Amino acid sequence: CTNSNPIQENFMNCMSTEFNAYTKSVQIFFTPNSSLYSSILHSTQQNLRWVNSTSTNNYPLLIITPFHESEIQAAILCSKKLGLQIRVRSGGHDYEGLSFLCPTPFIIIDLMNFRAIEIKTEDETAWVQSGATIGELYYAISKKSNVHGFPAGLCPTVGIGGHFSGGGFGTLLRKYGLAADNIIDAFLIDVNGRVLDREKMGEGLFWAIRGGGGASFGIILSWKIKLVRVPLTVTVFTIPKTIEEGATKLVHQWQYTAEKLNEDLFVRVIIQNVNSSANIRTVQASFNALFLGRIDRLTPLMNKSFPELGLRVEDCIEMSWIESTLYFAGFPIGSSLEVLLDKTQLYKANFKAKSDYVTEAIPKGGLEGIWKRFLEEELVFIIMDPYGGKMNKILESEIPFPHRKGNLYNIQYLVKWEVNGVGISKKHLKWIRSLHRYMKPYVSKYPRAAYLNYRDLDLGTNKGVNTSYSEGRIWGIKYFKGNFKRLVQVKSKVDPLNFFRNEQSIPSMHA
Ligand code: FDA
Repeated sequence: CTNSNPIQENFMNCMSTEFNAYTKSVQIFFTPNSSLYSSILHSTQQNLRWVNSTSTNNYPLLIITPFHESEIQAAILCSKKLGLQIRVRSGGHDYEGLSFLCPTPFIIIDLMNFRAIEIKTEDETAWVQSGATIGELYYAISKKSNVHGFPAGLCPTVGIGGHFSGGGFGTLLRKYGLAADNIIDAFLIDVNGRVLDREKMGEGLFWAIRGGGGASFGIILSWKIKLVRVPLTVTVFTIPKTIEEGATKLVHQWQYTAEKLNEDLFVRVIIQNVNSSANIRTVQASFNALFLGRIDRLTPLMNKSFPELGLRVEDCIEMSWIESTLYFAGFPIGSSLEVLLDKTQLYKANFKAKSDYVTEAIPKGGLEGIWKRFLEEELVFIIMDPYGGKMNKILESEIPFPHRKGNLYNIQYLVKWEVNGVGISKKHLKWIRSLHRYMKPYVSKYPRAAYLNYRDLDLGTNKGVNTSYSEGRIWGIKYFKGNFKRLVQVKSKVDPLNFFRNEQSIPSMHA
């Protein structure tokens, strides 16, 4: 690639001379002059909001797509030497673009070539590299076993690196917890360029990277996970109800029910605005479920626990667990499993999201206020994911992700828009921020909690390399509650000078 900028030249010289990591035969460096730079930069970037509305000053001086860990080790050491920051990218789905944008000179280490997956059904484990997607992981599991799965998210293009290190949940959450709850080992490169496994990194750092966000602590190369058991046949259903069809009453009742259901049953609610059959704009709640078993066990269970929904046998579809991952990703029934390997991002859009945790059911009047706001916007969604089950059995301090017993469900609010532009974005941002303010009386308090993987910079940002404990705590306790303190202790020990940092990275007390 062409490299005219002295910093880039110095960087590559450093890589080749001092660390002997520059393999000329394979191209791993892409500068802004390279013809592939732009397509690589934007390739996995999920939120289009950052494509056009970001100054190119926030773009990287260099993108590195390493094949070997020695290239990553060298890139860390050279970045430190030349005063550059690093943003590491696995799947590029960060809501606020923190894996590919930075206000100060930086390079991106993109793990697109670190995507190997090794499934070992003998001991029900797997090793998966950070640059693989969750779709690739699900696919690889299904090629080896039809009775194993893994409890991670719903969108197949999400990257393992960001997802696992921030928690990661989907339809198996009530039975098996988070992706991060099922990690048993990992390889990480630390700030000194050392490759460390669980034993070498120690339990403090191993605790921190399972839910505390990997980007604060190093670059995680791969993860060893526990596979979980799934039955040969599972059942799915989706029942949409508009306000006119009684959605308010059903969502209200769902809040008391979903968290207490049998652990094999996950019933989430997706709220959106739609045109009714009479072509009237209205709000619709879809009850979208996975049951780890067959229809004959599901229907009596639903009719006992949530009879108001009126589930009928004909609403239910039996399939394998792997087929259910396609169903929840929105692929038509009968699609080939290979769609899980497709990197084309289904949900690419301009968007802003926020999250909350609900600990007491929202009264009907509160729900009606949401519907009213929904009718003011076009592309808006609320996803309510029920907790309970396994989530109630794991202590808040087990890993940094603290949202356990006492939470009925997680809410994600999303607004999307089709045409990009600063003025247009402002209108939608104003709308979602106003909805978030409206929700305050109805959601968790002290702190008003949020989920790290639904990253939201409105919650607060760091004040640079020397961010203090109390400055970081403003956003930190929302994601981590009491675990924030321990995360700061681990960070201060493993990266005291705060080399690995971003707008919401864990601060070090020695920087
Ligand atoms: P990306 O590469 O952007 O990284 C995110 C963060 O992790 C960045 O700070 C990055 O630097 C850091 N990072 C990435 N790789 C690293 C590594 N190897 N070592 C250290 N740090 C690393 N969540 C969920 O729980 N359930 C769900 O169902 C979904 N569904 C979903 C759908 C869609 C369309 C989107 C856009 C997002 C989701 N998410 C989700 C949220 C998702 O879990 C979250 O955005 C993850 O952080 C994405 O991980 P990526 O590796 O793709 O992101």
